[in-house]
Amino acid sequence: MKSLKYYIGKALKNHFAMGAFNFYNLESLQAIEQACFNLKSPAFISVSESAFSYMGKDYLVALAKSAKKKCPYLFLHLDHGKSFEICQEAIDCGFDSVMIDGSSLTFEDNVDLTQRVCDYAHRVGTIVEGELGQIKGIEDNVASNSHHFTDPKLAKIFVDKTKVDLLAVAIGTSHGAYKYSGEKTLRFDILEEIEKQLPAFPLVLHGASTVDEELVDIFNQNGGNLQNANGIPKELLVEAVKKHNIVKINTDTDIRLAFTSMIRKTLNENPKEIDPRKYLSVGKNKASEILMKKIEYIFFGKNQA
Ligand code: G3H
Ligand code: 13P
Ligand code: ZN
Repeated sequence: MKSLKYYIGKALKNHFAMGAFNFYNLESLQAIEQACFNLKSPAFISVSESAFSYMGKDYLVALAKSAKKKCPYLFLHLDHGKSFEICQEAIDCGFDSVMIDGSSLTFEDNVDLTQRVCDYAHRVGTIVEGELGQIKGIEDNVASNSHHFTDPKLAKIFVDKTKVDLLAVAIGTSHGAYKYSGEKTLRFDILEEIEKQLPAFPLVLHGASTVDEELVDIFNQNGGNLQNANGIPKELLVEAVKKHNIVKINTDTDIRLAFTSMIRKTLNENPKEIDPRKYLSVGKNKASEILMKKIEYIFFGKNQA
């Protein structure tokens, strides 16, 4: 069985990115597993702090164990861990990697917290992702109202001091279904400066959902209201993978949107349906389908396992 470290190195060298796909129940995990299995694509299966408490530790660990049995190239990851204690809990129950998100702290406090998590994690070989700069967007435990781009010089100091394995950078992506009010761009100039300071260092892009128009339309046509939702243009993500050192791309909103738009449509068209297995399957299949497209055309993770 190849390690997560192996796949991160391979992604960096061959310019592909691993998806980091959020799950919160059996069906969302099955959708991810199906897509990654079909394409033999390594990926992170991510659990946010709120998904951690929603599922409960025992269930989520058991679910991940089943998925990894079928796809040993899926790696259980803690997304946006905000405290040492939650990272410790995840490490102790066997997560392959944890993100310690100290991005809302002062630089010094972020360094201290991240360093502490790295010391604890590295003793047992768990990979650690840190974050510098702030990614805009609001979701449960993850909230920031404005962009604070990563400072390239501080990024070098941060990595040297903390010894993180992966660094999440803020270059204009944002969490959720409303990413842009103006021009759809990413700050590749900042990314290049970060890469000059940290050559051949694996970087992470959060808030990278594409929020496909077709799904937003289905959502809105079936009683939903996501007016003016929009995501990161595919081409910008392709550029981030092809020309830069982005090896992990976080995707949550697209999975939620695929599920919920198809469940809305199915229930609307079948008002007598009361079997959750029927409509959850439709959502699951759509989520799996869109993940496969992403892996093939954006992340190029196909056949990398
Ligand atoms: O980046 C944040 C994730 O999308 C997690 O969101 O806390 O609502 O599960 P959540
Ligand atoms: P999206 O909201 O763009 O899917 O981003 C998810 C994310 O960054 C999870 O950490
Ligand atoms: Zn995120």
